[in-house]
Amino acid sequence: LLPTFACVVFGYLLGSIPFGLVLTRMAGLGDVRQIGSGNIGATNVLRTGNKKLAAATLLLDALKGTAAAAIASLWGVEAGIAAGLAAFLGHLYPVWLSFKGGKGVATYIGVLLGLAPVMVLAFAAIWLATARITRYSSLSALVATAIIPVALYATGYGKMALLFAVMTLVTWIKHHANIQRLLSGTESRIGEKG
Ligand code: G3P
Repeated sequence: LLPTFACVVFGYLLGSIPFGLVLTRMAGLGDVRQIGSGNIGATNVLRTGNKKLAAATLLLDALKGTAAAAIASLWGVEAGIAAGLAAFLGHLYPVWLSFKGGKGVATYIGVLLGLAPVMVLAFAAIWLATARITRYSSLSALVATAIIPVALYATGYGKMALLFAVMTLVTWIKHHANIQRLLSGTESRIGEKG
C-alpha cells in the first residue's frame, strides 16, 4: 500500500506541473490564462501564435502522464493505474494554481501511452480524422476520449477501460464550456485566435 501511495503522490506532483503556463512565461509571451479560452493547454498556447511552444506543451503535458504511469507500473499494474490517474488529476487540479488546471487531453494521451501504448494510435487516428473534418480541437478530443474506453473494453483491457472511462468523464466535465460553445456554434477552430 505504501508504494502505491507514494506513486500517487509522485504522479500528482508530476502531473501538476503546468507546462503551458511555464513555457509561455519563459518565452516572454505573458500569462496564457489571459488569452483565448484562458486554458493552460496546448490548444490555447497555439493561440499565442507560437506553434513550437504549443507542440512542446502537448509533448511535455503528455510525457508527465507517461512517466508517472510507466515508472509506477514497476510496482505493478494497480500502482501504474493509480499514478496515471493521479498525474491526470494533478494536471486538471494543480495545487500551485489554486486547483485551476488544464482540461486533460494531452495528459490523457500520455497516460494512455504509458499503460496501453497501442491505443495511442487509435486516439491519434480518431482525433486527426475529426480535426480534419471539423477543425475543432475540443470536439476531436471529446470524440476520441469517448471511444477509447470502449475500445479498451472491447480488446480485453477491463481495468484500463474503467480507468479511462473515469478520465473521459472528467475530461468531458472540464470541457463543459467548449461543449456549450460547440452547441451554439461559437467554438473557435484550430488556427483561429479565439
Ligand atoms: O481538447 C482541447 C481543449 O483543450 C480545448 O482547449 O483552449 O480551446 O478550450 P481550448
